[in-house]
Formats: sequence, structure tokens, C-alpha cells
Amino acid sequence: RLDDRLEALLARMTLEEKIGQLGIFADMLRPFAADVNPEMNELNAGELREQIRAGRVGAVFNGVGAVQGRESQRIAVEESRLGIPLLMGADVIHGMRTVFPIPLGEAASFEPDLAERTARAAAIEATACGLHWTFAPTLDIARDQRWGRVAEAAGEDVVLGNAFSAARVRGFQGSDLTADDSMLATPKHFVGYGAVMGGLDYNSVEISEGTLRDVHLPPFKAALDAGALTVMSAFNDINGVPASAHDGLLTDLLRGEWGFKGFVVSDYTADFELVAHGFAGDDREATKLSFTAGVDMSMQSGLYAAHLPDLVASGEVSMDVIDEGVRRVFAVKQAIGLFDNPYRSLDPDVEAALDPKALHGDLALDAARRSIVLLKNDGDLLPLRKSGQKLALIGPYARDRDNIEGCWTLFGDKRLHVNLEDGLRAALDDGDALDVVDGSGMEDAIDGGIEAAVEAARNADVVLLAIGEPQGFSGEAQSRTQIVVPSAQQALAEAVAATGTPVVVLLRHGRALALHGAVHDAQAILATWFLGTATGPAVAEVLFGDYNPSARLPVSFPRDSGQQPLYYNRQRTGRPELPTMSEFKSRWREMPNSALYPFGHGLSYTRFVYGDIELSADTLDWDGTLTVSVTLRNDGSRFGEEVVQLYIHDRVASRVRPIRELKDFRKVALAPGAHTTVSFTLHRDQLAFTTRSGAFAAEPGLFDVWIAPDSEAGTAEQFTLLKA
Ligand code: IFM
Repeated sequence: RLDDRLEALLARMTLEEKIGQLGIFADMLRPFAADVNPEMNELNAGELREQIRAGRVGAVFNGVGAVQGRESQRIAVEESRLGIPLLMGADVIHGMRTVFPIPLGEAASFEPDLAERTARAAAIEATACGLHWTFAPTLDIARDQRWGRVAEAAGEDVVLGNAFSAARVRGFQGSDLTADDSMLATPKHFVGYGAVMGGLDYNSVEISEGTLRDVHLPPFKAALDAGALTVMSAFNDINGVPASAHDGLLTDLLRGEWGFKGFVVSDYTADFELVAHGFAGDDREATKLSFTAGVDMSMQSGLYAAHLPDLVASGEVSMDVIDEGVRRVFAVKQAIGLFDNPYRSLDPDVEAALDPKALHGDLALDAARRSIVLLKNDGDLLPLRKSGQKLALIGPYARDRDNIEGCWTLFGDKRLHVNLEDGLRAALDDGDALDVVDGSGMEDAIDGGIEAAVEAARNADVVLLAIGEPQGFSGEAQSRTQIVVPSAQQALAEAVAATGTPVVVLLRHGRALALHGAVHDAQAILATWFLGTATGPAVAEVLFGDYNPSARLPVSFPRDSGQQPLYYNRQRTGRPELPTMSEFKSRWREMPNSALYPFGHGLSYTRFVYGDIELSADTLDWDGTLTVSVTLRNDGSRFGEEVVQLYIHDRVASRVRPIRELKDFRKVALAPGAHTTVSFTLHRDQLAFTTRSGAFAAEPGLFDVWIAPDSEAGTAEQFTLLKA
């Protein structure tokens, strides 16, 4: 139950007004084509305001702008019969005006605290622009790099995913939900979306209960534990039941088992799509299935408004269930103080005074530099000197300003962004010494053809080759069969490499890529994702050694697209790829099974040396703890930060276990010559998994443990988990 005031309000509502609270519709800005449900999409802002006045709207989608938002809110509060305030929602995924690295790139920092800070910054800017609610963070664990939405979440690992999930929720929401700059987070897409078959977006998901519970659900639990009050249901089906009509997951698990008290919003027209799934015979049935399964709020389809009245009249949906949905929406509106302060986050003066650069320019740079992974650095080609050497910046992203933000940035302020050329020129002692051969688009990789690039490469001491996927290649509906550098850019790389001038590849990408030919063979490679506003300065800092790269891969870089899905924590097989085995083993004919650059990989300009692992005991008591330590020494001549990673492997279990599982990680900063002891505490819960009986439990027995710089390195020690 709500408090008396809101229960009294609920008691006065007509069915139409109640259903109004259970939908969200587009307002001023509609980024999507009106091709799914033209009837609803044709609602223009004026008509929408009429609907608000009539009490038929409870939330507004993409209603950005404090002036317009305040006016919409005024109509709701002052001109509708019951004065129920609107909730303003939009996709603010990795920044609002200031754009931070794509979430996958930011996860490479292995610094959840950084994600908390960038989410906080996004919330400050977004709430100044009249928003209360973001459809973020994306929590889909993605083990198949063909899927374009890999870019939006934290990668392939659940422990890393959990940490970033909780951090982003804390960041968006801040410490006081009623504060003007607090923004409601929406963990999405519930659930299993990252496991779409073949990496094909919106495709089916066939998943075991164990994998669902151990890999895909935990980031959502972490988000709810961090205080998230809304959840978005996914487009995909799971084992034949669409996620947006999955009563087992939306009601039994989310509300029953986990005690979630907030509301569930569908993904964009996901309720309507139950018909296309063939799960519902028509829109009316789709409405019934989705709503009664636990989707409280329908996004954009208009189905609830169209069909719930009849479903209630026929008795197929009870008024009690409708009231429950409204209560959940009210509870969230109340939690953010909307009933007491409907104009919160809708102050045009605050929006006018917003200065993203002053507020978040430094953070944009810090986030960007901390997301860059040094994949390769043969012969210590990097860092480069700032003078005395001729550099040629070549490639479609040299000057480009259109492929800086990455996917899902609807409101970024392009005037804030610094491209590669400007960032590099500003960092060089003599900026004019940089030779730039630009190109844009995909097919014409270079203006004036490859000849200009080759000429520039011949005249340079080092080539900086700015290539990779354009930003439209990742994100929603951007699945790829070949996760490679586009062919025109590959040809450019080959031609430039043929000059013999050393090449540093500045790779731009929204997923792990399979690197081939001259790209694979380049002397140095920086994985730069889409870094957002501070792209140029951040890359310059790393290139010239002002920042020593400290990021590590949150996804495995395969040797070839055909290895997908490739992830480090795959399960053991009966015929592992061991040299001692005959040819009848689990192997590819053409290449090793392993990654080219595994999860956790990343180099530094200094050299970290790991000592032997020390265990506080060789047994772990059932209710006890075990300390696992290592001495880490900075053996190089520069300050650096190392991501120290703790992995385990369960030797024998009632379900086949992964070859390795990350259990903890820590970023450690060390001055040259310094050393420190890094200790992790292990307890039984970290060894638990969903057993064959369905229980989440650890099983006594022998475990391997590593403290290592990546998911393939290190030498294992052993301990035994003792029986209770
Ligand atoms: O939030 C998004 C979701 O991730 C994909 N479909 C559209 C939604 C609203 O824009």
C-alpha cells in the first residue's frame, strides 16, 4: 500500500486515468521512425499535451528541455483533473551533453568508481535538461561480439558486470532520490538479451537455468541492490517465452524471489511485438499477456490504452491488478519526490546555466584516457616523442567528428568534442609538424585515394592509423557476421604498412574485433572504442606517454570472426585442445581456440612483475575465508597502474564449470621501483553456482586459484573447500 494520500488519489481515479499511468509516449523529440505503430507515433507534441490534460499520460518519453518539460508538467499538475505529475524519461546512456566513452570502453578501465562518476555527471546534465529517468544502465552480459549492443554494457564477464552495474545505478541516482539532480536508473534489458542466438539482434535466446542465473541475472540483482526502482523488459524470447510476457521472470523471480517493489517498463513496443513473435494472436491478447506477466508500463505502442479497458470490462484483467500497477508507478514517483515537488528538475534557469565543459570536461578526459587499452607495443614503439619525429595521422577518423560519440547518444553536444587531429596537434611541441591525411565514410577511406596516404606514410617516421568500425556499426540492430575492420580501411592499412614505416593503429570500435593482415601486424595497437568528448586529448596523452595506459579488455579479441561466441570463461569439454591429445579434440582446423587478446589483457609502458601466489591456508572452511596474496612490483621506469585479477577454477563439480572465472579485481598504482602486496579474500559464496538441484551453492573440493594480469596468464595454486 501507498501512503493514505496516494491511496485516496488512486481511489478517485477512473480506469482511463489509471491506464494513463501505465504508458509512456514520445514528446518533443522522436528519434525513431514511425513505422511500428503509426497511430501512436502520429501523436504530435500538441496532441500529446491534450492527452496529458485529459489525464491519459503518466510519463513522457524523450521530453527533453526544461522549458517544454515544465510546460507539460504544468498542464499535468494544474490542468488535469487529478494533477498527477509526469515522469520524464529518455535514453541517457553514456553522457548527456558531455559524452563519455561507450559503456564497454569505460568497463575497460576496470574502475567501477569511474563509471559511478560519469553516470553522476550524466545525471546532473540530464536533470538540468528536464529529465527524471534514464533507460540505463544496460546490463546485458555479451559473449558474442557479433551482437551490436555489446557496446552498451560492461562486456563478457559477470563479476565485472556486477560491479559496473551497481556503480552506474549509484551514479545516476546519487545519494538522495528526491534531489533535483538525481535520475532514476533502469537496468535493462531484463533478461538474457545479450545471449541472442548468433549475435543476431532481437533473435531468440536458448539458455539453461544455470547460465541464466549465474551469468545474466546477477547484474540485475546488483542493480536492484544498489537501489534501482525501474526495470526494462527485453525484446527477446527466452526458451520460447518472450521476456516482455515472461511471468516466471517478471513476477515470480523479480517480484517474488527478489522482492522488487518498483515498476517494469517494456522496451519500445515490445508488448506489441508479442504478435510478431507468434506468442499472442492479436494486440488485445498481447496486452493481456504482457500486463499480467508483470510489465506495468507499456512503452510507445499504445496497446494498454487501447485494450486494457475492454480486458477489465470482460473480467480478464482485474481492477486489483490495474491498481497494483498504478501503485508501483506512484511509489516510484513518490520516491523521487514528484508528488511534493512536481517541478523538480524542470528549472529553465538551471538548464540555461548548465556549462558541461566547466563541470565535466576534466572527467570526460579522465574517463577517456582510462578506457584506452594498449593491445600491442612491439619494440616499445610507444610512447612517442612530442618532437623530433615526423608523424602522419592517416585514416577516416583523423579529422572525423561524426564517429566520436558511439551509439546511443541522442543529446551529445558536438561543439564540446575534440577530434584526433586537434587533440594531437595541441599535444605536440609543434602542432604544425603533424601531417594529416583524412578521409571519411567507409568506402572512401581516404580523400584523394590511397596514394596520398602512402606518400604521407613514406615521409613519416611513424604512422598513426585511425581506422576501425564507424559508430553506426555497433548499437541496436547492428549485428555483424564479420567483426573486422571494413575492407576499404583494411586496404588502406595494407598500403600504408607496405611502405615499411612503423604503424600505430588507433582502433575505433564498439565491440571486440578480429584483426587481420596489416592491422594485426602493426607494431602498436590502441583499442580506443568510442571515447566521446575527449577523444583527441585522451589518445594524445596515451600516445605521448602523459598517461600510462591502464585499461584492460572487458571482452576477448578473437583471432577470427568464426570463433564467435568466444569468451574466456567457457566450460571445459571432454576433449580439450591440448597438445597431448590426438586430432579428435575440440579445436578449430585453422587456428587455436584461444583469443588473440584475452579478456583482462592490456599493456603498460612500465613492467609489472608478479611474485608467487600465497594462500593463508590450503583449505577454506565452509564458513571461513581464505586470503590470496601476491607481491606486485613495478620493475619499469614509469609510474603505472595494474589491474590485478583473481581467478578460480572448480576442479570437479556436479555441473561442468568454466575453465576460469574472475572473482575479484583491483587496480593498483605503483611508482617505479615500488612494490606492494595485493590481497584478496575469498569466501564460499564466491565459489557458488546454480547446481543441478537448482540451489545456489558451493561444492566442497579442490579449486585452482590465480592472481594474474589477464584471463590466460599466471600459474595456479590450489586450495580445498572443506565440507560444512
Ligand atoms: O531504451 C531503449 C532500448 O534500449 C532499446 N529500444 C528503445 C528503448 C527506448 O529508446
